Amino acid sequence: MTTATGDTTRRLGTAPAPDALDAAERTSVDELRALQLERLRWSLRHAYENVPHYRRAFDAAGVHPDDCRELADLAGFPTTSKADLRENYPFGMFAVPQEQVRRVHASSGTTGRPTVVGYTERDIDTWATVMARSIRAAGGRRGDRLHNAYGYGLFTGGLGAHYGAEKLGCTVIPVSGGMTPRQVQLITDFEPRVIMVTPSYMLTIIDEFEKQGLDPRGSSLEIGVFGAEPWTEQMRREMEDRLDIQAVDIYGLSEVMGPGVAQECVETKDGLHVWEDHFYPEVIDPVTEEVLPEGEVGELVLTSLTKEAMPVVRYRTRDLTRLLPGSARPAMRRMEKITGRTDDMIILRGVNLFPTQIEEVVLRTPGLSPHFALELTTRGRMDHLTCRIEARPDCPPARRAAAAEEVATAVKDTVGTSIEVQVVDPETLARSVGKLQRLHDLRDRT
Ligand code: DLL
Repeated sequence: MTTATGDTTRRLGTAPAPDALDAAERTSVDELRALQLERLRWSLRHAYENVPHYRRAFDAAGVHPDDCRELADLAGFPTTSKADLRENYPFGMFAVPQEQVRRVHASSGTTGRPTVVGYTERDIDTWATVMARSIRAAGGRRGDRLHNAYGYGLFTGGLGAHYGAEKLGCTVIPVSGGMTPRQVQLITDFEPRVIMVTPSYMLTIIDEFEKQGLDPRGSSLEIGVFGAEPWTEQMRREMEDRLDIQAVDIYGLSEVMGPGVAQECVETKDGLHVWEDHFYPEVIDPVTEEVLPEGEVGELVLTSLTKEAMPVVRYRTRDLTRLLPGSARPAMRRMEKITGRTDDMIILRGVNLFPTQIEEVVLRTPGLSPHFALELTTRGRMDHLTCRIEARPDCPPARRAAAAEEVATAVKDTVGTSIEVQVVDPETLARSVGKLQRLHDLRDRT
């Protein structure tokens, strides 16, 4: 079947019964817009009255929460960036007294201070509700055993998935990331139906099954809920084939809540429904900040509608996507699978290149595994990109040079820039146990 985003999906899962959905999932667009406006006006006031940063930013832009009379008025409010959160480290963006904050999470970031986020009791309940909704949309059901290999701790993946799965009525197996042989043993012994994990770590676990002489297709797993990093349709096919599961996409970010901001429905697999009763999406031009119409690709900007401890107003996610009309949940708009982050974009001799574009090419080239790493260096005064890809264990040595050539040619043809491709032995590149870092930037900074 061909989905609305033009991708061919071979296998589709079963939709939940309509009466199993939350009221918000069944609402009409008009009802949703009215609810959003009411909540948006509350959220803007809450931020303005309780967070000095927002008061200063709104005043400097000459706007007041009362100026928001319709949803489109949000475009007149200033955006918020990760730098704003860092400047207010650790708790300066919180809008409630500390005794009302039940939990904090933090995201490490590559440089400098982490960004800290907080939750009231009600925020934790809202988060569990949207996560339960997400797992159900992915095909999970009350009574399922769910293997949770997202990392527990300050990262939002582990605890976010955990509370949502419990709320849905699943039996959670809180494994966290790492100790890959044990992951395989627990999947084999406990027979979970659902797994939640980053797609890159899922690949590591699949490889471990094979290393132990087990057929991953024979495992009890039927559904994988994969997120926290970009992954392509080709990667979906790879995981569905090798594990015989339905692979669906989950999106979120700690600044806005954690996982469960948007979720793909298993019966359509056509992009991720933004849970718009709690998060209001806009897509902007990353340079001019102009709001783009539905269907145009740009940077996703999110505003929380119900968050108490740390409201976010027009948070610039850096994630590139476009908004599409609702499908399986008609009132909730979808965001297309993320192609990359503005900060992942490699500008190679003037041409923009995303790691996901290379992933697509690698995965359709016979003989190559999905494990690859990118290294940026300086040669002379030019940037040079080396892509090292592991051969599949059954790839004949004579095939390697041809496969490398095919990848280099396909990248040149589709992206328009030359890269160096090396096909290396299986099991020689570092494996992910959580979020994968594909790109290593070793360029001279002098
Ligand atoms: O990664 C939350 C999460 C956990 C989402 C588990 C899904 C599953 P952060 O560590 O704050 O939070 O990182 C957020 O990860 O801005 C995206 O760049 C990226 N990201 C998250 N989900 C996806 C996805 C969690 N499905 C950042 N596709 C975001 C592509 C994703 N990128």
